Amino acid sequence: MTQTQPLWLRCETKPAEHRSALTPTTARKLIDAGFAITVERDPQRIFDDAEFEAYAPKDFPIIGLKELDTPGPDLCHTHIQFAHCYKHQEGWVDVLARFKRGGGKLYDLEFLEDANGRRVAAFGWHAGFAGAALGLIGLAEQLEGRQLGKQTAYPNEDELLKVTRSAVETIRKHRPDNQVKSLVIGALGRCGRGAIDCLEKSGCRPEEILRWDIQETSAKSGPYQEILDADLFVNCIYLSKKIPSFVDRAFLEKAGKDRRLGMIVDVSCDTTNPNNPLPVYSINTTFDAPTVAVELPEGLPKLEVISIDHLPTLLPREASEQFSHDLLPSLLQLPYVTGAAGSEALQHVNEEGKGAVWTRAEALFRKHLAEAEANGA
Ligand SMILES: NC(=O)c1ccc[n+]([C@@H]2O[C@H](COP(=O)([O-])OP(=O)(O)OC[C@H]3O[C@@H](n4cnc5c(N)ncnc54)[C@H](O)[C@@H]3O)[C@@H](O)[C@H]2O)c1
Repeated sequence: MTQTQPLWLRCETKPAEHRSALTPTTARKLIDAGFAITVERDPQRIFDDAEFEAYAPKDFPIIGLKELDTPGPDLCHTHIQFAHCYKHQEGWVDVLARFKRGGGKLYDLEFLEDANGRRVAAFGWHAGFAGAALGLIGLAEQLEGRQLGKQTAYPNEDELLKVTRSAVETIRKHRPDNQVKSLVIGALGRCGRGAIDCLEKSGCRPEEILRWDIQETSAKSGPYQEILDADLFVNCIYLSKKIPSFVDRAFLEKAGKDRRLGMIVDVSCDTTNPNNPLPVYSINTTFDAPTVAVELPEGLPKLEVISIDHLPTLLPREASEQFSHDLLPSLLQLPYVTGAAGSEALQHVNEEGKGAVWTRAEALFRKHLAEAEANGA
């Protein structure tokens, strides 16, 4: 790189969001590669401000993680972030309209893909890991007659595992067969693999963990008795179409007291999706109030759901390090951008066959922008 490539790391405004798209180590590597990194002060970030180099002018691309506050100003910068507006989520037209009015550009991290259509960086593994961890801790609390209280980020995985290992022991105590049975659906995906790793590291024996993916759920139709026979069910599927419910209220009522299941962790969190295969709850829970009870007739054993949509922030240090590390090769190919245009430089990069990941992301942005315009943006 002959010119200095600027990049601005913004602060996260979502409550309890401790993660960071850039870390001191990846920022250092970018600086070494010729980037000028500016880091906004962020009291929530797991990394102290002092751990970063800092300063950022107007034509800097801005990198962050979660959605910006709405309503908000028109967006004139190039933003690299999860914007949650490409799947017709609530307010999607308004978000894209802000880019249109400001002349800015969005590179959505959820859709940053390599030539084979694989995401270059994702938080899924840590989402599954954190979800399974909270499921174990929450179930232990429930069996002890308590409700899982406010959760805060752990400084590292080892500290979390100390708590989950003790939770597994507590659950065993409450089970006459001394087993902690779990079922993970979507077991072959990023979240599913993270959930299974957490269960194993927490002391669940491999034979206690049932691992299902598409092969098992397509072999027979839901709802599934196997879910009711597990202590903990962790849903990690990528929902792309209408499928039979995994479990529903009628199925739970029919089973009556004959149910082992006490905790559902819906990592997939398709809570408001009409095709949600878990139509037994209707809200996203939070780190402040992590569980919601499934409403069931009196006398039935308790069943709770954890449906937090930013689970990886329970382990902000490792989650950020892994994500930022995976994003780094693409960032090193970020086209040099001047203002909101930068097309000349982009052209140059593309001729060299680099930066295709950003070209695809921009094409996707233009497609969704056009769709938003057709919907009044
Ligand atoms: N709650 C959170 O904090 C959080 C964080 C990251 C991702 N997520 C969500 O988790 C979900 C999974 O993400 P991922 O990155 O693990 O996806 P992925 O594509 O890596 O894995 C999804 C897995 O689900 C399987 N699957 C799809 N449909 C299935 C079905 N009907 N039955 C059984 N298995 C099925 C797939 O075969 C695949 O193995 C996504 O919806 C994602 O948005 C949530």
